[in-house]
Amino acid sequence: MKAPKSPAARRTMALWSAAPRSSRLHTTIRWWSAPFTELELEVPLAGDVLEVGCGHGIFTVFLGISSRARRVVGIDIDSDKIALAKSAASGLRPGEAEVDFDVMPAGSIPALEGGWRAIVFADVLYLMHPEDRAAILSACFEALAPGGLLIVKEVDTRPRMKALLAQFQEILSTRVFRITRGSHLDFPSLTELESLMTELGMSTIAKHIDHGYIHPHCVVIGTKPAS
Ligand SMILES: C[S@@+](CC[C@H](N)C(=O)[O-])C[C@H]1O[C@@H](n2cnc3c(N)ncnc32)[C@H](O)[C@@H]1O
Repeated sequence: MKAPKSPAARRTMALWSAAPRSSRLHTTIRWWSAPFTELELEVPLAGDVLEVGCGHGIFTVFLGISSRARRVVGIDIDSDKIALAKSAASGLRPGEAEVDFDVMPAGSIPALEGGWRAIVFADVLYLMHPEDRAAILSACFEALAPGGLLIVKEVDTRPRMKALLAQFQEILSTRVFRITRGSHLDFPSLTELESLMTELGMSTIAKHIDHGYIHPHCVVIGTKPAS
């Protein structure tokens, strides 16, 4: 659990201060429990960045505020969350960050001329059937620029007790409180994610980014060949 300490993190969270109470609570808990500071360090500092399954948009906005040379787009299947994200981002000062949001159907990855510099997922792929997961990663690979990065953050299935705690919370969130939308619940391991990305022809780095957190957060960074 980590508080939003950096100026960029504090500024990001301040943008949700006028949001409905439930969204404020959700974004606050999300910040404290997710390794956004660690994940941001993996994202290129400049260029077009797509966040798929951005939810309320806190990480999308944090990416934009952390580096003004990033043009960041957040997409999600949940129109209510995108409306909240747009409302919070409307509080950005001119030139503070280049951020946009859009609703997209499940499985759709927007094309960009020249390709995306990076495509990021933060805790989204566990909400999909394995075949949909493979298909969306393949669509991302196609949509990336040569040399572009596919950055996939999930919660690993090891260590077992930490993973079970995270999975229990996700079951509550999707099936009981219905805060999160998704077609399915299937928690991929770090190894499975890395295999999917190497099968696409990417060179990969896989690691845990969970120091100081309750959950076994992990990330796989895949690089598309430059030619
Ligand atoms: C646990 S939330 C994570 C939100 C955000 N990435 C974050 O880190 O705060 C998962 C999000 O994925 C979205 N989602 C689920 N399936 C999706 C899909 N096929 N395409 C895009 N978004 C999806 C949900 O609507 C939800 O907002």
